[in-house]
Amino acid sequence: MAQQVQGVIARAKGEPVRIETIVVPDPGPGEAVVKVQACGVCHTDLHYREGGINDDFPFLLGHEAAGVVESVGDGVTEVAPGDFVILNWRAVCGQCRACLRGRPQYCFDTHNAQQKMTLTDGTELSPALGIGAFAEKTLVAAGQCTKVDPAASPAAAGLLGCGVMAGIGAAINTGNVGRGDSVAVIGCGGVGNAAVVGARLAGAAKIIAVDIDDKKLRTAKDLGATHTVNSRSADPIEAVRELTGGNGADVVIEAVGRPETYEQAFYARDLAGTVVLVGVPTPEMRIDLPLLDVFGRGGALKSSWYGDCLPSRDFPMLIDLYQQGRLDLDAFVTETIALADVEKAFERMHHGDVLRSVVVL
Ligand code: APR
Ligand code: ZN
Ligand code: ZN
Repeated sequence: MAQQVQGVIARAKGEPVRIETIVVPDPGPGEAVVKVQACGVCHTDLHYREGGINDDFPFLLGHEAAGVVESVGDGVTEVAPGDFVILNWRAVCGQCRACLRGRPQYCFDTHNAQQKMTLTDGTELSPALGIGAFAEKTLVAAGQCTKVDPAASPAAAGLLGCGVMAGIGAAINTGNVGRGDSVAVIGCGGVGNAAVVGARLAGAAKIIAVDIDDKKLRTAKDLGATHTVNSRSADPIEAVRELTGGNGADVVIEAVGRPETYEQAFYARDLAGTVVLVGVPTPEMRIDLPLLDVFGRGGALKSSWYGDCLPSRDFPMLIDLYQQGRLDLDAFVTETIALADVEKAFERMHHGDVLRSVVVL
């Protein structure tokens, strides 16, 4: 039987979101219905509401979530009712060229639920990132569910569904940070600060946090940065070089998404270092680099999608570290809020004093 539950809907461009009744169908083949326990508020949810994402209104927002599987459709083997799961927005196929080449992060055929959740008048909803978890229950593809230790706090676990995973993964997966490395993180919002945490987990000896906001730098320090640089008052390229014996950092992680910070990342790295680009630029942004500098520097320039994560490998591992007290996910939960307060959380996001607001149900 299809069920009616409450969900946070964006009806039209720029309009405040509101709670509406939605219809969640029974899971079809390969699908699961998940009772959502927690879902973080991400910038991408706001982009949906602002019409910045090429998909159709109305949207059911929310995508950084954890919850309990309520029911599964035919042929589902990954999870069973009662499992505590983190949802992911890249359930890969395992068979396309990208998957077969060992780069499932670039899978051509990611799976979402085939059936649609609707409003009560039958209008089909577009679930944010194929999830739609600002709702009491949501319908997803079973491959979007990863089982983790059920003793973990849902608010913390859900964070691994998006932004925090993107940051940690930028350091440990894409950047391949190793013991003793020097790492610079440019931009210490939720994603950059998660990269600081990832660098620390990986055993980096120096973690240099760069931001224009002292408040963010203080948080970075609390999370494990060994040095901080306010790039309003100091040249970040010079500062990073000075702190790394004149060389530049082994790994520089850019988590802003602007031309000047892309350029800083390029020059703040060691000649053989790696630049990891996590910050998402806008289509019109350009940088202008001397080709001799591009040629003259070895190392690598890599972009990082979703922290190059493999949910079935990374989620349980990171939750285990969290449960052991070795990964502080709680530090990213600035506040827990009700489903009705998502719009307020969007407002707070603009002020920049929140790492994550998390809806808890
Ligand atoms: N130099 C250094 N830091 C900067 C600069 C700058 N020129 N401009 C902004 N920042 C800092 C902000 O002060 C803030 O701390 O970058 C940080 C951005 O953080 P958030 O706005 O919280 O964004 P976040 O969620 O961390 O995402 C960062 O990663 O995944 C992408 O789409 C995401 O592009 C976005 C980026
Ligand atoms: Zn997100
Ligand atoms: Zn694939």
